[in-house]
Amino acid sequence: MALERTLSIIKPDAVAKNVIGEIYTRFEKAGLKVVASKMKHLSKQEAEGFYAVHRERPFFAALVEFMISGPVVIQALQGENAVLKHRELMGATNPKDAAPGTIRADFADSIDANAVHGSDSLENAAIEIAYFFPGTDVYAR
Ligand code: TYD
Repeated sequence: MALERTLSIIKPDAVAKNVIGEIYTRFEKAGLKVVASKMKHLSKQEAEGFYAVHRERPFFAALVEFMISGPVVIQALQGENAVLKHRELMGATNPKDAAPGTIRADFADSIDANAVHGSDSLENAAIEIAYFFPGTDVYAR
């Protein structure tokens, strides 16, 4: 087992549904600690930079527009196997395929408004945490 950190975003659709606390409770019950946290209305430039890896994909423009359609809540989570544990809590990208009881099964409406983001690897987690939080805004707990 390895103590890891991962980057998590509660997307505009889930913020609008008023389920921020419910999602945080799932993180905490799974043993993930919030070590950095903020609400932010992303600029287009910030959203494009964050999803730069997807810029050639057909859904890129729609994804960016969705991510700037309202405020998001961004957090770094820490725990044993945090990257995979968080992905398991999220469920599959398309909520139609997400296992019952996962965040996306419970709160996501569609593949493009799918409630949450989570880093997909330890390497990307470090890059994504640094993208949103300077080192001093991440707290050892
Ligand atoms: P991806 O990294 O494949 O999924 P995940 O968020 O589960 O890591 O895709 C990033 C986001 O892009 C995804 O959460 C929603 C959006 N997206 C679409 O809108 N349509 C698609 O067909 C795919 C694959 C993703």
